Amino acid sequence: MTQTQFGATLVSDQPSQKRNARRDTNSPNNEPSSTRFAVTTVPVPTPGSDEVFLKVHSASLNPVDVSIQKTGGLVDHYPAIIGGDIADEAVAKLGLASRTTTPGFNSTLLGDIPKNRSYGQAAMMPLVRTTAYLAMYYETPHGLGLQNPLGSLGAYTGTPSLVVGSSSTVSQYAIQFAKASGFNPIIATASTKHTEHLQVYPWTPSAILSSPAQSLTYVVNAISDGFNGESISRVVASKNLPQNKQFLRDQWANMGKLLSDGIVRPLSTLEVKPGGLAGIPVGLQRLEEGKVSGTKLMGHPQETGPGY
Ligand SMILES: NC(=O)c1ccc[n+]([C@@H]2O[C@H](COP(=O)([O-])OP(=O)(O)OC[C@H]3O[C@@H](n4cnc5c(N)ncnc54)[C@H](OP(=O)(O)O)[C@@H]3O)[C@@H](O)[C@H]2O)c1
Repeated sequence: MTQTQFGATLVSDQPSQKRNARRDTNSPNNEPSSTRFAVTTVPVPTPGSDEVFLKVHSASLNPVDVSIQKTGGLVDHYPAIIGGDIADEAVAKLGLASRTTTPGFNSTLLGDIPKNRSYGQAAMMPLVRTTAYLAMYYETPHGLGLQNPLGSLGAYTGTPSLVVGSSSTVSQYAIQFAKASGFNPIIATASTKHTEHLQVYPWTPSAILSSPAQSLTYVVNAISDGFNGESISRVVASKNLPQNKQFLRDQWANMGKLLSDGIVRPLSTLEVKPGGLAGIPVGLQRLEEGKVSGTKLMGHPQETGPGY
């Protein structure tokens, strides 16, 4: 590991601390120690036998990235490189090819970037699309356990459904999957300020309301804290959960058909933060402040300047 590459790295003020030591036991109040993002050089990792080495072109910023920095969740040691909702080139093990991937770079969790789509559009898909897909098609209690559109399109033709929080990116994929499964009408909730721009998508729902007006059997809540109904499943779209592994592999192996047929499409509302990796903490700050509305923030690591 003699080469180095740029990394947007989450560093702790106590660099060698491990997870579970995330709370500072020397602090009188057992307060969490602080972490911050830094752009620095890191050793180039060597891919394992089932992994690929990737050159990241676009990385989308997700609420979970903010949460990881704040809580130390999913971090085993510092410095840590987090994030992973990316579009990239596989530059080792698979040969040079345009690919998009979920976090972890496991070679079974890769998909081709759809034709005529930018790296940014592709980077918007892995985590959020997978979250919507799990929510709808994985068996309970991990999801709603619906019949999968990869096997049968339109299995729920004429059945009403509700998607809560439809200005979020996760919900935009939930609406597309609901269409693929034949649900109709698809009722969506969003703040009224989003009504107009949500109607430009080809998969616009049947109705966009500020709150659901009727009780429905099938509800996808794309916002963790926005729905008070009874919940039958809780979605965690992590590739690290043993129960998710095979389901995610199947999704990545088969999703290409829905993408190439245009049944599921990437969203176009993205905002690239300037400065490459240096722009990522700026974008995460905006996410933390709740100032991201109706768009997905994106970092382009290859645009990192010489002085960062
Ligand atoms: N369980 C998992 O594995 C998993 C994976 C990915 C994401 N998530 C969660 O899914 C949610 C959406 O993620 P995302 O990446 O799609 O976010 P996003 O695209 O950044 O969504 C932002 C939108 O969410 C809306 N919103 C925020 N709070 C809301 C509320 N209480 N009620 C209704 N709408 C609300 C905002 O609407 P306004 O513009 O009107 O403010 C904003 O437009 C987040 O809570 C995220 O943590 C979970």
